[in-house]
Order: sequence, then structure tokens, then C-alpha cells
Amino acid sequence: MITQDIKLAAQSLVSGNLVAFPTETVYGLGADARNPVAISKVFAAKGRPADHPLIVHIGNLEQLSEWALEIPDSAWKLARHFWPGPLTLILRKRPSVSKLITGGQDTVGIRIPNHPLTLKLLQEFGAAIVGPSANKYGHVSPTTAQHVADDLGASVSCILDGGACQVGIESTIVALTEEPIILRAGMISPTQLSQVIGHPVSTRAQTTIRTAGMHASHYAPNTPLQLCDNVFATTQQFATSGQKLAVLSFDEQPNNLPKNIVWQQASSDPVVYAHDLYATLRNLDQLDCELILLQQVPNEPAWLAIQDRLARASYN
Ligand code: TXA
Ligand code: MG
Repeated sequence: MITQDIKLAAQSLVSGNLVAFPTETVYGLGADARNPVAISKVFAAKGRPADHPLIVHIGNLEQLSEWALEIPDSAWKLARHFWPGPLTLILRKRPSVSKLITGGQDTVGIRIPNHPLTLKLLQEFGAAIVGPSANKYGHVSPTTAQHVADDLGASVSCILDGGACQVGIESTIVALTEEPIILRAGMISPTQLSQVIGHPVSTRAQTTIRTAGMHASHYAPNTPLQLCDNVFATTQQFATSGQKLAVLSFDEQPNNLPKNIVWQQASSDPVVYAHDLYATLRNLDQLDCELILLQQVPNEPAWLAIQDRLARASYN
């Protein structure tokens, strides 16, 4: 059921059921972080392997030390600066934190999400909520309540409707158990993080830390997706074959486009592009095309997180 009833959502969590919740990044599939049965329902609903850890969503800074140990200065600085916001911190976990949440690891991922409804839900519920993105494992993350209903409607007791997500792609993940390292790019950039910590933050190169997004294909629609620099060349091939093709390009739709080709123009602003990306992929996926062709995005820092998601979505 799609609803805006916070009390109902909080009650569902208390009863050990799953509640989908809006965040500024993507919708999450929430469960009571202290209830092992509820946590296992999250893995079952998503079809997610048990060794892929879940993010713990908290409602205020005081709750941070209920979940993490040996919290370094850099973590407090980042938390104070960016929370509530699209940043997840990986810290040493307290012994009391279930290994069901952490995929057997000694670290835990934590964030305060920035969405008024979910902040109210966290307050009403009074405790932390575990929440991966509310999509089937490996599929495109949801950015509206309807996306969640399409993927997981049967598994959740309610979907809290907070409208379309503002950022549109998942949080930046920074591990702070050793030197700060970015495990997943997001719209908070390495430069922004470095400025707040006061020294450079490296991007994942060789690390033994496991992240679900590092495995094979991820964030992928069902239709094969191809990235290319010159969309026109491939468009020509499809024009002659007659097979149905969807194109997402920075260019305007050309004149005389053959009927078997659907053309969509993408924003050249990375903030808008990120906001629209998953909804666009879901829409194009419904057209029953042979291929979705995406024009490669600029090789610039502001496009880093988008590049990362497109590379995963087109992996095959
Ligand atoms: O924006 C987001 O982060 C959204 C919203 C709902 O908060 N959540 C999200 O969750 O993207 P999920 O489960 O789809 O992706 C979380 C990522 C996974 O790649 C997971 O492996 C990683 O966070 N992660 C969680 N805990 C971790 C840990 N202890 N160590 C390393 N990676 C961790
Ligand atoms: Mg996910």
C-alpha cells in the first residue's frame, strides 16, 4: 500500500514488517535494525546474497555511537557537515550490531538520510532502520514510490510516498576504518570530502573491503544497455535493420528519425542527469527495444558517480 501515514509505517516496523521509505538518493527497503527476523526478510525480498551488507539509517547524530566504535575525528567532521545527506560512513561496528546487517564483517555502514518524511519516521519509530535500495537485486534503484511498488509491492507492508527522490543516485560511501577511502562514488565528490576532512580522500583502487556495487552487473535494466561515444553510427545500423532501439543522447532528436528508433534527449547538467537517470532507464526499459543506447557522459569530476552507474548498468 502506498501511503503517507508515518504512524502506520512506524507500527509496521515495530511488527517486524518491511516498509519502503523515501530518501534524497533512492527509496530504501526498511526493517527494524534490531530485529534479525525482519532483517532476513529484507534479503529474501530483494533476492540479495547474505554477504552483502546493509546500511543502517539513523535519525540523529547521538545514535551514531550506538552502532559504531572508535569513531575517528574525520567521521564526526563529515557527519556534522553532510548529514542529513547523501553520505554513508563505514566504521567499526559495536559488538552488539548483528552480523546479519554487516554481511559478516566487523564494520557497519551508517547514514542520516535527508528526507522530511523519513526523518519523521525515524523519530516516530525511535530506532535505526536498515535499508538497501528498494529494488530486486541487481536491478535499477527506485526513485519513486511507484517504482518500489513495481519491483517489491508484494513484499512490503507499506510504501511511504515522498515523491521523486531529489538526488536520484545512491549515496557516496566512505570507509573510515583506515585512511579515508571512497568505496562508491556519489554526488558528494572527493573534493568536497577532502575539504571537510582537511586532507585528501582516495578513491577505491585495491581494497579488500566488500561492496555489493562492486560485483558484476548492477543497477541494470532488463534491456541490454550499451554506452557509446557516437550514437549516430549505431542509430544508422538500426535504421536499416528495422529493430527497435532506444537512444539517450545529449543531442536533439535528429530530423527524419526512423519509426523504430525512440530518441530521448538527456540533460547536460550532471545534477539533473542524475536526478532523472533511473526513471529514464525504467521508462526506456518498458519500450521492448533490442537495445538502449546511451551516449557516453563527459569525463569530468562532476560526472564521476554517473559514469560509475552507467558502467555497471551496461556491464555484460
Ligand atoms: O543512498 C543510499 O545509500 C541508499 C539509500 C536507501 O540509503 N541505499 C543503498 O543501499 O544504496 P544498497 O544496499 O543498495 O547499497 C549499499 C552499499 C552496498 O554496496 C553495500 O555493500 C555497502 O553499501 N555497504 C554497506 N555496509 C558496508 C560495510 N560495512 N562495508 C562495506 N560496504 C558496505
Ligand atoms: Mg542497491
